[in-house]
Amino acid sequence: MSDSMERFIGEVREVVRAGGTEEEVTAKVAERLKGVLGDPGLLTVDQLLVKAGGFTLNRIHVEPGDSFSIGAGIWDVGQCTPVHDHGTWGVIGIFQGSEKEESFHREGPRAMEGRVRITPSGSRLATAGDVFICCTTDQDVHRVSCASGEPVVGIHVYGGDLAKIPRLRYDPETGEVTPFKTGWDYAKVSG
Ligand SMILES: [Fe+2]
Repeated sequence: MSDSMERFIGEVREVVRAGGTEEEVTAKVAERLKGVLGDPGLLTVDQLLVKAGGFTLNRIHVEPGDSFSIGAGIWDVGQCTPVHDHGTWGVIGIFQGSEKEESFHREGPRAMEGRVRITPSGSRLATAGDVFICCTTDQDVHRVSCASGEPVVGIHVYGGDLAKIPRLRYDPETGEVTPFKTGWDYAKVSG
């Protein structure tokens, strides 16, 4: 773990312990993340490992009690996620490359089965150094893709252990939801 990542984990811990609304917490986490993104040594070699054929989400830290988690998300050139949600708040900072994020508005409450109505609500391009709030629990549906000629590497901070939160994929045409769970990659580096 790099010194700057250790420091960042401590800062997120303080922010989460202080509490507040999700909007307040994500704004503070985003501010702290912006402060460390410029360090070229932020991620270790292990944390930058990419698994073959798929999205890599390397576990960096899961807070005891699961109040937050931090991972390194690496999407290869040309990769695009399905439309999905998170079931919690999230902040993403781009460490390398660039990423396109398309957001969707979900009408009504989160339903764990059946169909819901989702409509596109905007998109943005984020490049190295950019930090954005990817989600709050009530509006957390998006699709992200690598938008650079090199893999995009992002620091992802979530308001729980992402691997334990039931999540949903959405069919953008029909609104049909499909439950899934995220697994952390390379958990050995979490130390
Ligand atoms: Fe996401």
